[in-house]
Amino acid sequence: MSQMVGTDFKLNSISDLRQEYKKDELLENKVPGDPFKLFAGWFENAAMDGVKEPNAMVLSTVSDGKPKARVVLLKDFSEKGFSFYTNYNSHKGQELDSNNFASVTFFWDKSERQVRIEGEIEKVSAQESDNYFHSRPIGSQIGAWVSQQSEKIEGRSVLEKKLTEMEEKFAGQSIIPRPDHWGGYLLKPQLMEFWQGRANRLHDRICYTLDDSGLWNFFRLSP
Ligand SMILES: Cc1cc2nc3c(=O)[nH]c(=O)nc-3n(C[C@H](O)[C@H](O)[C@H](O)COP(=O)(O)O)c2cc1C
Repeated sequence: MSQMVGTDFKLNSISDLRQEYKKDELLENKVPGDPFKLFAGWFENAAMDGVKEPNAMVLSTVSDGKPKARVVLLKDFSEKGFSFYTNYNSHKGQELDSNNFASVTFFWDKSERQVRIEGEIEKVSAQESDNYFHSRPIGSQIGAWVSQQSEKIEGRSVLEKKLTEMEEKFAGQSIIPRPDHWGGYLLKPQLMEFWQGRANRLHDRICYTLDDSGLWNFFRLSP
């Protein structure tokens, strides 16, 4: 397996990489008052535009004043919030235990769009985690028992060995129980910012914030 970068690409030409964004615009008189409506439309557009994993989002957490970020997959959204699933004992789980304020960022290159969402995170109910856990392929369910996510391990063989053990343990069982340390989180947004790439780097940015009475207001930000 080659780790080499393709021969056409020269590392010293990174500074020459640039895209002109021309696909769409985001104007105050055309956006809905409800940011979830705008998100739903943009999500659908991203899928139709051919973004491979439109539900991939960068989850940023902060603990001890140090930011950490990684990609996770959005599994559902509604006016209640945006959910994803993970190992509660992972680094991100520990970080969320100490500070439950987080943000997620989507970049949909084919749509020339970015969405940033910020808010507080809470665990979804055990029932909701069970439902999603059991909707996953059996291999992924067993995988949740195998991986002590974010722990240091000696080598890949540690995973292979544990996988064999778990496969034997659950052999013939029609229902694999969900490990207590695995489940969902819900990010309840307080801010949602929509970015549409435009020509000459004069992009459109519309930012929605939630006021004390639970209403969303929006304003434009300079690019
Ligand atoms: C496309 C993509 C999707 C991912 N989806 C998830 C996910 O839904 N849940 C998850 O726990 N990790 C997911 N990961 C792995 C995380 O990025 C990360 O490596 C892992 O959760 C450990 O992060 P932590 O040590 O900061 O807790 C995904 C990675 C990629 C590249």
